Amino acid sequence: MAERVEIFEVGPRDGLQNDPRHVSLAEKIALVDLLSACGFRRIECASFVSPKWVPQMADSAGVLAGITRAPGVRYAALTPNMRGLEDALAAGADEVAVFGSASEGFSRANINASIAESLDRFAPVVRAAQDAGLPVRGYVSCVTDCPYDGPVAPGQVARVVAALRAMGCYEISLGDTIGQGTPDRIDAMLDTVLQEAPAEILAGHFHDTGGHALDNIEAALDRGLRVFDAAIAGLGGCPYAPGASGNVATGSVQARLTALGYETGLDPVALDKAAAFARKMEGAV
Ligand code: HMG
Ligand code: MG
Repeated sequence: MAERVEIFEVGPRDGLQNDPRHVSLAEKIALVDLLSACGFRRIECASFVSPKWVPQMADSAGVLAGITRAPGVRYAALTPNMRGLEDALAAGADEVAVFGSASEGFSRANINASIAESLDRFAPVVRAAQDAGLPVRGYVSCVTDCPYDGPVAPGQVARVVAALRAMGCYEISLGDTIGQGTPDRIDAMLDTVLQEAPAEILAGHFHDTGGHALDNIEAALDRGLRVFDAAIAGLGGCPYAPGASGNVATGSVQARLTALGYETGLDPVALDKAAAFARKMEGAV
């Protein structure tokens, strides 16, 4: 039997947080419902951040209230601080994520805190989420390059991975936030990070701005990673990472993994339907 690789769908969060279109609440709900029919185990569809920083995610509670939850699917939300966690718990998120950075410049631009301050802020969030019975994922942005500080040393990534692991994050997703990584640099980064955390608790989150995301996934597969984040139809980017337009598209990752002989458990017909809907959303269902 083919080996399983999981695609973690992040389009309704990472994609839509930076979408220039006005996507209505009804469309967001319809998109998540279409994604729920694809076979994902985890779908990130909410972000409890400041609406002044990311207005596109202001209706996250409405998304979680409006979707039809499919059995076996966990609906995930970003929670940068205690306020975000409280809102995520009230809205019924099934898991949450804290998100830090390997570079100081992006940390300040994205969450208005140094790396050290952000880790201090995350620790009580992780504890409170766990007390409430929710798994917590950790993100590390800028694992190869930062839009503000330039190239990022692998040791900086490993340090933040180790801190998030020690806090209790069950999985840590490594973000090539501006999509400038190449397979050799992803490999070098993983070489160092794997000294701090096993491949089983790492995920790859590779934006496709530079067109290398699929090759970066292959490099990470060679290092033993088996979870990759992707966004339906390649939606979006990150509002605090100029030029980070476009997560790697879920359909492209599915096709590459299948060509490499892996099994994703996803239904290609349902994926096509969700992708077609994602492309045509423009404010009304
Ligand atoms: P701050 O301004 O330092 O926070 O922002 P503050 O505590 O001083 O509060 C300022 C205001 O925000 C206050 O309101 C708070 O109530 C409010 P005011 O009194 O001015 O009316 N506030 C909140 N409102 C709603 N929900 C909250 C919340 N917290 C405070 N949770 C903060 C700090 C972290 C809140 C802010 O910087 C923020 O929201 N940043 C989020 C940025 C973001 O969402 N970026 C995109 C996600 S990360 C990403 O995409 C990367 C990733 O995909 C991986 C990769 O690709 O690398 C994950
Ligand atoms: Mg991202």
